[in-house]
Amino acid sequence: MGNALHRRSFITFKEKKMENFEFYNPTKLFFGRGQETRIGSLLVEKVGTDSQVLVVYGGQSAKKSGLLDKVTSSLKASGINFVELGDVRPNPTYEKVKEGVVLAREKNIQAIVAVGGGSVIDTAKAIAICVPYEGEGWDFFEKGVVPKKALPVACVLTLPAAGSEQSKRIVISHQGRKLGTGSDIVRPFASIINPEFFFTLPPKQVRAGVIDMMSHIMERYFTQTPNTDFISGQAEAALRSIMKNGLIVRKDSQNYEAWSQIGLAGSFAHNGFYGLGQKEDWACHGIEHEISAWDETITHGEGLAVVTPAWMTYVWKENPSRFVQFAQNVMGVKEDTEEKTVLAGIAALKNFFKEMGAPVTLAELHAEKLDPQELAEKAVKIPGTLGNFKKLHSEDILKIFELMR
Ligand code: NZQ
Ligand code: ZN
Repeated sequence: MGNALHRRSFITFKEKKMENFEFYNPTKLFFGRGQETRIGSLLVEKVGTDSQVLVVYGGQSAKKSGLLDKVTSSLKASGINFVELGDVRPNPTYEKVKEGVVLAREKNIQAIVAVGGGSVIDTAKAIAICVPYEGEGWDFFEKGVVPKKALPVACVLTLPAAGSEQSKRIVISHQGRKLGTGSDIVRPFASIINPEFFFTLPPKQVRAGVIDMMSHIMERYFTQTPNTDFISGQAEAALRSIMKNGLIVRKDSQNYEAWSQIGLAGSFAHNGFYGLGQKEDWACHGIEHEISAWDETITHGEGLAVVTPAWMTYVWKENPSRFVQFAQNVMGVKEDTEEKTVLAGIAALKNFFKEMGAPVTLAELHAEKLDPQELAEKAVKIPGTLGNFKKLHSEDILKIFELMR
């Protein structure tokens, strides 16, 4: 009896502890007004003068704001040669990556400069791993091949959202699938964040960005790993700050101070810090990626606004105390029972999304016609199950889709 008890408590101790981890984040950050003019000298430092660089950008915004001109002028002034690859679309495609790979090989490119948001940066990072790879680049995404070599990438960020400017992840769409890959070698060697370039963001991208960065923190915060006081406390503070400043920039798009907080939070939200020593979840992202793969006009952050409260409602009973902590410390709500507190926390989060102007149902996302069965099966096809807070099978994901209606 004594032995059994001892064994049980030993097993409990062994299973429930902070995880070992390695953390390596070599991205040099340059933050604030005017920092974009440093891009030329950063490239000289990395690959030398007279080198050949690929500048990747999106549709119109970086041209209209004058940022692209500033970047290319800085490169010219530093004696860097460059070729351009524009027209990267949101939810970027492997086709575009291949176009960049052909161009980069033809021009003997030594480094890549991304000027834009997550889609542009991910395209640049994908080109960076595909150029030195002899096989089919889609293998990184579909077959789980780990990138071992990459051209150096520098970013000039125009949209605080995906966190790709510091993250080790790349997300690319191809043939109806939206898949990720990553390793430390894909982290940009330098990223420039001047919050003035966020002033031109349309409301849709403002809210999508705010919700995406919150999700990057929440995917890590909702963990079953105990003893996460240090990181969880930072996560709660970051979430409160993002919500507060998100509401400010929603009304006042030229507020440099508020954008600075959002820019800083968004960039750190996904560099790995908020997951140190704990098991991360990522079910909401897994489900959302199926939704924006099904309809590429859907914005990732808006998809998350619909998925997240439904996921929370479905899984909270796995560890109610974590959700009580979220309700009280992040959303500032407390009721007389545990269940009421949890549900009030979820409702308050949903209200915040609504206040930002985001959709919170599939119908509001214009996605009511998606086939939940098909998407649920796709979501678990490669990983087997989704998430860690509660391991989700396709039947669970179907129920989460029901809660999104
Ligand atoms: O193409 P342009 O004209 O530049 O317009 C873009 C685009 O239409 C516009 N925009 C960007 N900066 C602007 C601006 N408009 C006005 N002023 C500015 N300063 O915004 C639109 C959306 O851009 P996009 O790059 O697609 O947005 P975001 O940064 O949210 O990136 C989303 C992509 O990143 C992936 C998402 O799945 C999605 O494909 N993610 C990447 C991650 C990573 N690599 O670590 C993690 C994330 O969880 C996410 O999955
Ligand atoms: Zn995201």
